[in-house]
Amino acid sequence: MTKPAYPAIVGAMNGTQRIEGYAIVAADGMIADAAGVMPDSIRNDADQKFLQAGLDRAAVVVHGRHSHEGGPRAARRKRLVLTRRIAATAPDPSQPNALLWNPAGATFEQALAALGATDGTIAIIGGTEVFGLFLPRFDAFHLTRAPARIPGGRPVFPQTSPPATPEEILTAHGLNPGLRRDIDAAAGITLTTWERRGE
Ligand SMILES: NC(=O)c1ccc[n+]([C@@H]2O[C@H](COP(=O)([O-])OP(=O)(O)OC[C@H]3O[C@@H](n4cnc5c(N)ncnc54)[C@H](OP(=O)(O)O)[C@@H]3O)[C@@H](O)[C@H]2O)c1
Repeated sequence: MTKPAYPAIVGAMNGTQRIEGYAIVAADGMIADAAGVMPDSIRNDADQKFLQAGLDRAAVVVHGRHSHEGGPRAARRKRLVLTRRIAATAPDPSQPNALLWNPAGATFEQALAALGATDGTIAIIGGTEVFGLFLPRFDAFHLTRAPARIPGGRPVFPQTSPPATPEEILTAHGLNPGLRRDIDAAAGITLTTWERRGE
């Protein structure tokens, strides 16, 4: 498995930070359709509840400019929004408690410091390129699986050549699966938290 070309952008973390990813992924490994829209076929209330509770505990939420968790408590959360529209970091005029961040111009640590958040759990919520950026650094990844398929959609991780499942990619990047939980058995929704293997 080839590692992404940009792990250096995410510098060394100190001991008080933990990086956790969250995604709900279709049976074919996709998180959105070809137009970049997440279809209702992979939306699930139990997954949303799990995600929102996790984000409530997080110090910072990180996502690309086309993603957002929504919900009534979103505005309270500190967040970094990745974009190439600015050089390094800048306030996000569209929402409170948010900083725009271009990793080409500022390290992750610099962006966190500018946001005023250096400790705690950092929740990474996508999309594809952002998940890829943090793949070498995840301490945990909460992988929800939905039975629907999204032909021609966008994968959870950018590594598609050679073809690999999200589980194979997480394994190749040093994570091990925990127990698989049926969080909505009627809808066929499962959740597995992957944790980084010890050295
Ligand atoms: N199923 C799931 O769990 C899940 C998770 C996340 C997202 N989604 C869905 O996926 C869709 C969006 O996917 P997406 O991959 O297009 O969205 P995205 O990552 O939210 O946004 C992409 C944008 O983020 C910025 N960006 C990404 N990587 C960057 C980098 N390395 N450096 C600087 N800027 C960077 C760029 O913004 P600029 O264009 O401003 O430069 C890019 O156009 C939405 O429908 C969303 O709901 C689903």
